[in-house]
Amino acid sequence: MPDEEQLSYHEAIEKARSSLYRFPLLPVRGIPLMNHIANSWDTIWAFRPDPSDILIATYPKAGTTWTQEIVDLLLHNGDADACKRAPTSERSPFLELVAPPPIPSGIDLMKNMDPPRIIKTHLPFQLVPPAFWENKCKTIYVARNAKDNMVSYYHFDCMNKTQPEPGPWEGYISKFMRGELAWGSWYDHVKGYWKEREKRNILYLFYEDMKENPRREVERIMNYLDLSLSDEVISRIVELTSFEIMKENPMANYSCIPTHVFDNSVSPFMRKGQVGDWRNHFTPEQSKMFAEDYDKKMKDVNIPFRTLI
Ligand code: A3P
Repeated sequence: MPDEEQLSYHEAIEKARSSLYRFPLLPVRGIPLMNHIANSWDTIWAFRPDPSDILIATYPKAGTTWTQEIVDLLLHNGDADACKRAPTSERSPFLELVAPPPIPSGIDLMKNMDPPRIIKTHLPFQLVPPAFWENKCKTIYVARNAKDNMVSYYHFDCMNKTQPEPGPWEGYISKFMRGELAWGSWYDHVKGYWKEREKRNILYLFYEDMKENPRREVERIMNYLDLSLSDEVISRIVELTSFEIMKENPMANYSCIPTHVFDNSVSPFMRKGQVGDWRNHFTPEQSKMFAEDYDKKMKDVNIPFRTLI
């Protein structure tokens, strides 16, 4: 419909207002996904990226937006204005996102963009459309320690009115441990990409490393993307992608998403951006119980997560 094609993303969300609510989850090959995603699964699975497209894969709340901003700035030689051409959700489409019309899906958005596109996904490794691997697309995976990741997801589920109700914190820990949150088990997610990283040439990054030494990690991403930018441009990118600057950047802080979807008054999308905030949420008993279960679930891999830096 031509008039709907003219709508901005924001306007489309406004127009879909009455169809937006906390969507139920449906399993796709055992992974709980929003019903709209599950109902469009065949289209998502059949998606064929361009070989130059870049995939940024994460478990939700592991540092996706931060990495999207770094990659966009790297591709634009640190040009801040170019990277303010549109909000993150339009500049860097969310592969599997499907929402009620007239909100465009991630795949709809990509149809109007020239490669290389910076594609975001939260899908676990086994659900990434196989054409990404056939086309040898560069893939950046960002992992964040389980406890901070869960804390961030909890606050996000409180403010994102299209995610399932988080319920009380105590019960949320159990749901996280059982892999019942949207996009499934954190444990399987981080392990899935870890096991495939060499075979698939996946750049596996850690949120904690990015916080500890952002310049080192920006350079790591630059090298992986076969780019070579000046020291001055790298410094600018590090500055522009600091938490403080991104929090104030309306094109990177999700403030343009209407409040009936993201209610920033409940919890801002750019919340704290720290390592170790879990200490403000977990009781000593919860930490102990979580650690015992964690050790069992993670004993088959040795992924160097840090919960403090
Ligand atoms: P907190 O809720 O702990 O603050 P995602 O983009 O995957 O949804 O992840 C969101 C999390 O990353 C939030 O964590 C957010 O504050 C944090 N974040 C976003 N930009 C950041 C930045 N530039 N530096 C550090 N953390 C950032």
